[in-house]
Amino acid sequence: MKSRLFLALALCFSLNLRADDTNAPVAPYILTPPAPATPRINGPNVFGVRPGSPFLFTIPATGERPIKFSAKNLPRGLKLDSKTGRITGSLKTRGEFTVTLRAKNAPGAAEKKFRIVCGDQISLTPPMGWNSWNCFAGAVSEARIKSAADAMVNSGLINHGWTYINVDDFWQNHRDSTDPTLHGEFRDANGFIMPNSRFPDMKGLADYIHGLGLKAGLYSSPGPWTCGGCTGSWQHEQQDAATYAKWGFDYLKYDWCSYGEIASGQITNTTGIPLWGKTATNNEGAIYPYRLMGKYLREQDRDIVFSLCQYGMADVWKWGGSVGGNCWRTTGDIVDLWGKTEFDWQGSLSSIGFGQDKAAPYSKPGNWNDPDMLVVGEVGWGKMHPSRLTPDEQYTHISLWCLLSAPLLIGCDMTKIDDFTLNLLSNDEVLAIDQDALGKSATCVLTNGDVRVFKKQLEDGGHALGFFNLGSATVNLDFNQLSPLGFSGKQHVRDLWRQKNLADVDAANGVLPLTIPSHGVVFYKLTAANQ
Ligand code: GLA
Repeated sequence: MKSRLFLALALCFSLNLRADDTNAPVAPYILTPPAPATPRINGPNVFGVRPGSPFLFTIPATGERPIKFSAKNLPRGLKLDSKTGRITGSLKTRGEFTVTLRAKNAPGAAEKKFRIVCGDQISLTPPMGWNSWNCFAGAVSEARIKSAADAMVNSGLINHGWTYINVDDFWQNHRDSTDPTLHGEFRDANGFIMPNSRFPDMKGLADYIHGLGLKAGLYSSPGPWTCGGCTGSWQHEQQDAATYAKWGFDYLKYDWCSYGEIASGQITNTTGIPLWGKTATNNEGAIYPYRLMGKYLREQDRDIVFSLCQYGMADVWKWGGSVGGNCWRTTGDIVDLWGKTEFDWQGSLSSIGFGQDKAAPYSKPGNWNDPDMLVVGEVGWGKMHPSRLTPDEQYTHISLWCLLSAPLLIGCDMTKIDDFTLNLLSNDEVLAIDQDALGKSATCVLTNGDVRVFKKQLEDGGHALGFFNLGSATVNLDFNQLSPLGFSGKQHVRDLWRQKNLADVDAANGVLPLTIPSHGVVFYKLTAANQ
């Protein structure tokens, strides 16, 4: 007991920790300065495509319009629309191509090196976009999806790299809903899946989304029914993969749900299918349905991001990449709460966000751990309300997801996006941490009282550091532990949310003075001064 007290005192002393008790509710506050009128090219530095697949990349750029785009050394097969900044076409040959992207407008010009990798792997940086579930849940429709896509463009979020517009559950017919718009044939006479009456033209919808320079995503289950009780892909996997490709979709979220009945042998016509459950001796039965769909998606003539949704069962991060998965959920469903949730299948921001270290070593380009979608803005799964997370919890949410190299899928109603939420989603220096081409995930490198320090190695040799405060009072901290965290020499320090350089610090004896609000974060990038 005595020695524990001594240890706590020693750590407080070495970190010079002071907690203050003021914990009044905080109104939303904006940290990110507005983007300048001069052009800035945002988004990832690298993009993967398979040989022969249709290529679509919209150069994300802020700055006064009109902007004239150009590209030097664009490989043969690709062309750039100088007005929209969209690169389209297809590449025949495998290889790496370094392109210089340029954006010019009346006040100025910008340039950026961009690597196109034509090979087997896609999703070389975590997917960024929007998904319908956290706001609309079962009340989704073609009109709502189109409005979300329009809002992605009109809000300017497309200029920060946000790309996918993903339809979640309820585009199919429902097994027993009382809602007449969900009544209809599950499949046609030839077994092709039938969308419900709210989605009269799936190809038209994908074309509409592509027409805006965005990409389209869809949802299904390997079981007979999705989680919401709509038609799943069971025994139609190959046909469904071909249908999604024919319609023009670029992303599939594949959700376990009723597959549990098959994996546990409750459905009889499962000859040859490995079972999974309490009696299974290996994980083959959990892997099998994902391997199957992964194979069929891979056979299509377009690149389809494969998102595994099975809540982290069977340590999915260990095998998700081997079945063609580009990302995999590591947890149950997130809700917009910091702490306790109503149901045990749900996770909160803190329980999910700070519990990801186990999967971190498996994060790499093309393979992303997915701690679930974002719960900022107006969310509510059909019963809309502003996110119940405090402003500081929302800063924590975005910072942590970027440190974890998580897929970033906005979950709010895009048509009602407010300035605070927009600011959270449009800080290019913060987003660059998520999109870093090295693809590492941060881990917790230091715990002290309520403070957690997360560190992420970056492609340019720098590191992102997140200082999180899990406690209920503000923490003031003179942080002097850079050397034990592996830093040496003089370090440039950049405050990412404020996009501001701070004083250089010497890792050996320097101090970072930090004020971390309750449930909030201080988010820095450190770069060796001699670099
Ligand atoms: C599961 C998933 C959610 C959502 C719903 C749809 O709960 O985890 O993200 O896709 O199914 O029914």
